[in-house]
Amino acid sequence: MKLTILGGGGFRVPLVYGALLGDRAEGRVTRVVLHDVDAGRLTAVARVLGEQAAGDPDAPEVSFTTDLDDALRGADFVFSAIRVGGLEGRAADERVALDEGVLGQETVGAGGIAYGLRTVPVAVDIARRVARLAPDAWVINFTNPAGLVTEAMSRHLGDRVIGICDSPVGLGRRIATVLGANPREAFIDYVGLNHLGWVRGLRVEGRDELPRLLADPELLGSFEEGKLFGADWLQSLGAVPNEYLHYYYFNRETVRAYQRAEKTRGAFLRDQQGRFYEEMKRPDTAALTAWDRTRAEREATYMAENRDAAGAGERAADDLSGGYEKVALALMRAIARDERTTLILNVRNRGTLAVLDTDAVIEVPCLVDANGAHPVSVAPLPDHATGLVCSVKAVEREVLSAAGSGSRSTAVKAFALHPLVDSVNVARRLVDGYTSVHPGLAYLK
Ligand code: G6P
Ligand code: MN
Repeated sequence: MKLTILGGGGFRVPLVYGALLGDRAEGRVTRVVLHDVDAGRLTAVARVLGEQAAGDPDAPEVSFTTDLDDALRGADFVFSAIRVGGLEGRAADERVALDEGVLGQETVGAGGIAYGLRTVPVAVDIARRVARLAPDAWVINFTNPAGLVTEAMSRHLGDRVIGICDSPVGLGRRIATVLGANPREAFIDYVGLNHLGWVRGLRVEGRDELPRLLADPELLGSFEEGKLFGADWLQSLGAVPNEYLHYYYFNRETVRAYQRAEKTRGAFLRDQQGRFYEEMKRPDTAALTAWDRTRAEREATYMAENRDAAGAGERAADDLSGGYEKVALALMRAIARDERTTLILNVRNRGTLAVLDTDAVIEVPCLVDANGAHPVSVAPLPDHATGLVCSVKAVEREVLSAAGSGSRSTAVKAFALHPLVDSVNVARRLVDGYTSVHPGLAYLK
């Protein structure tokens, strides 16, 4: 089986390869093709994968190319994990927004819109090529903003593109663990959009255990989301939100924390990964050791400003091991080998949330088998959550429309309608600011 990874020179590719190395079953991936626009980054990642595979005669064979069409031809699965504009672009997304006093996170608020406007045209080009060159392939989209990018690709690939994120899985695992339940046996009643969802229940053998957590301030204070949001607020909501909702519910504090930070997240990762890729150019560098050290530092500092703003302290050791590669592998196995399982994924709505149309990509538990991912039916969201989901989906639709038409005024509309952008004038200045720093937005006229 052939797996193509787009963004193959990316820092997190060794996580995926590590997961593949752990898969010994019949029908596993035997060939990995890494595609990247930057040959130097491919060489660096190749060194890490080489060390990971050392001494393993069954390790999937790895090859590299900068030719996208070559990479796609004959693929059974395509992982799309690109970063248009690189981490320099992410840092600029943050800076422009923060200078206007609004949030510049890569997936939430103004930063997410800017990143989406840059990424959608590239993702659509990829989707068209997959449809032409590998029409039977399944595309697993890791590229952020993952819900929006998956929806853009689904217009060309239908249900053969599935978006993934590890944050709902991590949230479900934390809640199950705190409640003393086995995360693998619990059904997580979660729904929303990517980075905008809520856990409303956790069922073990049909019994909902979440009320027990919500009634216990001590238990609530013992895990990441409980510390971020505070027991009181979770009790008021009667649900546990995805960690990215911290940017909404505590917007003023998170914007201020990001403004005060010595470096934004994007700037930190740009510099940190810049050093890693430089190190990889030296022949005496122990590649896997250098990669793992860099990864551990990245994990430990994830959402550090949010945790500071909330007084939440350090991340728990269990939360430092990543996880999105596990979701990707479980999804690929379920489809390729008909290993039926339930996973929280980004797929087309098909009536799951009655307030959204059928083609809107949402994040929801899905039954996965050889025919793909099928959303399970879930209870409707309460009005406050429905309001946010509908507002943000409307913004995503404006982004898709601006990316399709190249209309600058539609881009302004996308920013202006976002609940975290507080004036149409701010939206206008954001479009001016972003188009002046991003060559990838030159198409907006
Ligand atoms: C979480 C999010 C991902 C994000 C990742 C890394 O897993 O769900 O969407 O890509 O964190 O975030 P970072 O700030 O380290 O790039
Ligand atoms: Mn994510």
